[in-house]
Amino acid sequence: MNICILTHGKAKFIKGSTVSTRSLYEAATARGHKVRVINAALCYIEVDSAKPKVLYEGEDISNAFDAIIPRIMPSLTNYATAILRQFEMLGVYTTAKSIAIVRARDKFRSIQLLAKSNIEIPQTIFSRESAELDDLISKIGVPVIIKLASGTQGNGVVIAETRKAAKSVIQAFHVLDTSILLQEYIEEAGGSDIRAFVVGNQVIASMQRQSLSDDFRSNLHQGGDGTVIKLTEDQKKIAVRAAKAMGLQICGVDMLLSNRGPLVIEVNANPGIEGIERVTGRKVADKIIEYVEKNAKQRNRKDRVGA
Ligand SMILES: Nc1ncnc2c1ncn2[C@@H]1O[C@H](COP(=O)(O)OP(=O)(O)O)[C@@H](O)[C@H]1O
Ligand SMILES: [Mg+2]
Repeated sequence: MNICILTHGKAKFIKGSTVSTRSLYEAATARGHKVRVINAALCYIEVDSAKPKVLYEGEDISNAFDAIIPRIMPSLTNYATAILRQFEMLGVYTTAKSIAIVRARDKFRSIQLLAKSNIEIPQTIFSRESAELDDLISKIGVPVIIKLASGTQGNGVVIAETRKAAKSVIQAFHVLDTSILLQEYIEEAGGSDIRAFVVGNQVIASMQRQSLSDDFRSNLHQGGDGTVIKLTEDQKKIAVRAAKAMGLQICGVDMLLSNRGPLVIEVNANPGIEGIERVTGRKVADKIIEYVEKNAKQRNRKDRVGA
């Protein structure tokens, strides 16, 4: 097959590509596919009513691929998903639809969709500008987790231990004119969370991530450390249901183990591959390519999430 990894950075592999892109590239090549790493930022779309085209450095790549694997970094979401959408309109198979990627990048929308599918999440409040800060904080209590709606990799997630701290952090975010989310702090998770890597209807690898002793965030990007963990059937089911709720066939589902069971905090549309492969020894990239082989022949699934 001709596979496109739609990403960022240098078009000429490998310089500038992430290690996860490299894992995918190598797995696909080893399985006999032709792979191109395409920098979405260098693509452009020529739209005339008859035949819209996607061009890449002057080359028409509208019909160049049997499958696209999007690996889109947050800052390029808007533009890269527009490029991806154009491919979808041309009937090209993608492992993640543009709408599902956009959805997963929005913490509000994600929380709303997870709740709608009856997936357990920590108690959460959305707010923007609020005069009733005291009321909001009282609803959740302290310590409270405060998240920027658009943060990733642990940046933009804060814990406020006291009401005073909570109030001033929220006010500081308001000055920046951003929307935030207040969330119940799941203390019993002990600074660790679980990443379940979902491909299709299955969890194909899972790890527990532990924060450093001086942090509550377990993101590997914050220096957290991963270890293999075997999930219970119940935990696996929750991960697959969360993926479905978000309309993502390939994703990383993050859960906190609370006293009332696993709570989903995030579904990541662009989950790191290299880190979890290293920790678990599972061939995650290989499984993804296998999934592409099985599914690329069919038309793109209809998105049924409905929000
Ligand atoms: N409600 C919470 N209670 C306790 N820890 C949390 C909570 N929410 C997030 N965390 C910790 O912070 C990390 C980052 O939060 P997350 O919502 O995943 O944001 P990001 O998108 O930046 O990764 C999580 O991996 C987890 O370790
Ligand atoms: Mg996270």
